[in-house]
Amino acid sequence: MSEKTLTIKIDGAEVKAKAGQTILEAAEEAGIYIPRLCYLKELSPHGSCRVCLVKVGGKFQTACTEPVVDGAEIENNTDEIKQIRRDIVDMLFVEGNHFCMFCEKSGNCELQAVAYRLGILAPKYPYLFPDAEIDGSHPDIFIDKNRCILCGRCVQASKDLDGKGVFEFVGRGPEKKLAVNAEAKLSDTNMDVVDKATDICPVGAIIKKRIGFATPVGQRTYDEKPIGSDIEQKKS
Ligand code: FES
Repeated sequence: MSEKTLTIKIDGAEVKAKAGQTILEAAEEAGIYIPRLCYLKELSPHGSCRVCLVKVGGKFQTACTEPVVDGAEIENNTDEIKQIRRDIVDMLFVEGNHFCMFCEKSGNCELQAVAYRLGILAPKYPYLFPDAEIDGSHPDIFIDKNRCILCGRCVQASKDLDGKGVFEFVGRGPEKKLAVNAEAKLSDTNMDVVDKATDICPVGAIIKKRIGFATPVGQRTYDEKPIGSDIEQKKS
């Protein structure tokens, strides 16, 4: 049975989509980048970071969770939406302790890359400088919660892709934080360096040991090309 083709508009441009796709998937297939942080193709979308916010028929929705509907008119790259995304990313920066110049993830960091893409040069809000833990107990993996943006990718990947459930969230609201599913530290869990959860952190909160700066700063993924340019290349 052939898939039903739907027609939607993104910022006025006609896009063909398949029934069952989300707005983000349809946009991506058409070579239109919608910024995102918690979304990852291999995981089921959960709409937690809100960076992929778009307007559908004038209502805000998260593009990673919202299914396409035939005839939908979607706003993605408007000044209003770009400003909201900037504010969200700005808040993520000041809620943590992100010192990009010392971070091994710099240049490969999706938060940093999205911030550059949105034109953020300096934070708009005051820094909160939270007290956050560092866990270096595991022989191969280092956790730095100063950089965690609570996207939930590691929680989901460990559970759904690795079948382990190493990570969980504890606390609520401003007290919410990432925890390991063990008495005290990462080395008490069955996490392994080859686990998918080790590789999917968008920031520098989960880092493999002994690979630090193997690729020099200046030659990393987003040093070479802005985030999303791989998607935009699909547009012919
Ligand atoms: Fe859609 Fe995070 S990417 S809410």
